[in-house]
Amino acid sequence: MRKLIGRVSSYAGTSWSGCIGLYFVLVFRQAQYITILFATLKGNATSWSMSIIKLFPSRPLRFFISLASFLLLLLLNSCKSPSIETPEPYTLEYPNYFGKPKLPQDNPLTKEGVDLGKKLFFSPLLSSTNQISCANCHKPQFSFADNQNFSEGVLGNKVDLNVPHLINLAWNPGPFGWEGKSPSIRKAIENALTSPLEMDINLNEIIPKLEKKQDLKLSFKKAFPYSTQPITKENLLKALEQYTLTLVSFNSRYDLWRQGKLQPTESEKRGFELFFKSPKPNEQRGAGCGDCHTGHITTNGLFMNNGLYPIENGLSNFTQNPFDKGKFKVPSLRNVELTSPYMHNAKFKTLDEVIEHYNSGVHVNEFTSPILLYQQNERGSSPNLNLTLQEKQDLAVFLRMLTDTLVLKK
Ligand code: HEC
Ligand code: HEC
Repeated sequence: MRKLIGRVSSYAGTSWSGCIGLYFVLVFRQAQYITILFATLKGNATSWSMSIIKLFPSRPLRFFISLASFLLLLLLNSCKSPSIETPEPYTLEYPNYFGKPKLPQDNPLTKEGVDLGKKLFFSPLLSSTNQISCANCHKPQFSFADNQNFSEGVLGNKVDLNVPHLINLAWNPGPFGWEGKSPSIRKAIENALTSPLEMDINLNEIIPKLEKKQDLKLSFKKAFPYSTQPITKENLLKALEQYTLTLVSFNSRYDLWRQGKLQPTESEKRGFELFFKSPKPNEQRGAGCGDCHTGHITTNGLFMNNGLYPIENGLSNFTQNPFDKGKFKVPSLRNVELTSPYMHNAKFKTLDEVIEHYNSGVHVNEFTSPILLYQQNERGSSPNLNLTLQEKQDLAVFLRMLTDTLVLKK
């Protein structure tokens, strides 16, 4: 009997039909009912009716049993869960003015995939010492960046670049990383996992470690039900990529203004104008930030030299093109209030320092972006913007308008 219950329950899994079936077997304890039950569970109508005819030669009884059995069949089929659950598509929410996100074709977002990605993102199991998770460096409270200049990975090792935030990456064309080291988000994640300065794991060796965690194993199965082996290196990276892509921010005061839900302050409006307008002597005052920190996402996704000194290799490390020297990724400025220190080398602590850099500190050399070289509010002043104290304050107020604390809870 126990063996039989085992077989029935393993066939039916944990579905409702399994429970009803077990109840049926336990209450009636009769083999003929079990035959019918199996036929019913398998949805095999021919063997179902044959069993009934064979077992119940008397017509009225056959009719009665058939009816009861048919009703049971209906009931079971209505609550029977398929043995492979298709993951539920995850709809990325974003406002129209963002335009279409760039999502990976081979990794559709699903609720289960995102849930798994989130678990993995906060799990120190993904590091060689079991102590460092992605969230150790990409801290939600700092908009998935860090307040340290150079964050600690495993064994107290420090990364050599300031941790970037992970907001709205679905609208970033890539490549990723300050110097364009990673062609895709997935590759950036792989680098974090395997770098000896960050999590220092071997992606093949980590699989058995994850296999031992039953809850993770189940989450992998739910997220990737069609893989014969759900925990794989690819699925690990895909789940983390899915979660990262859901970190979309569109609830800042700036967004609420765009969505007609809020009236900005006068200072915010002036800061907005300065940010997006290019300076033209005697014509319009501007700070020209939007020439590189373009549009609502506040980045053109390109690599540029914004006049920092000393000049480092930057993008040229990976392209080997000498003209790419000193070029770094133009970061999106969403939640910039929360992501201090600033720049790839953590050179500035405050937004006022950053604004003063663009106002009067741009280092002129053969690699400096021409956009900065020719920006001037007063003729002959470039690259000095000659912003007034009020204008600098307004710019800072606008930058703080890009803060969205809702995304920190995702
Ligand atoms: C020890 C700190 C550290 C840990 C842990 C870490 N990262 Fe990062 N992450 C960084 C740094 C530093 C960069 C910038 C790398 C570069 O510029 O080449 C970065 C870059 C990225 C990027 C590219 C962002 C962009 O805008 O280009 C993504 C995506 C990312 N990390 C995701 C993750 C995920 C997911 C994890 C966990 C698996 C993780 N990181 C763990 C420090 C860390
Ligand atoms: C020529 C293109 C360009 C212009 C114009 C420009 N930026 Fe940048 N900005 C960059 C680049 C490139 C970086 C990253 C540089 C690095 O880290 O080496 C950056 C970084 C920043 C950062 C640091 C963000 C972080 O997460 O670390 C802030 C803040 C910033 N810019 C604000 C501004 C403001 C305000 C203006 C206008 C006054 C402006 N930018 C104009 C290209 C530009």
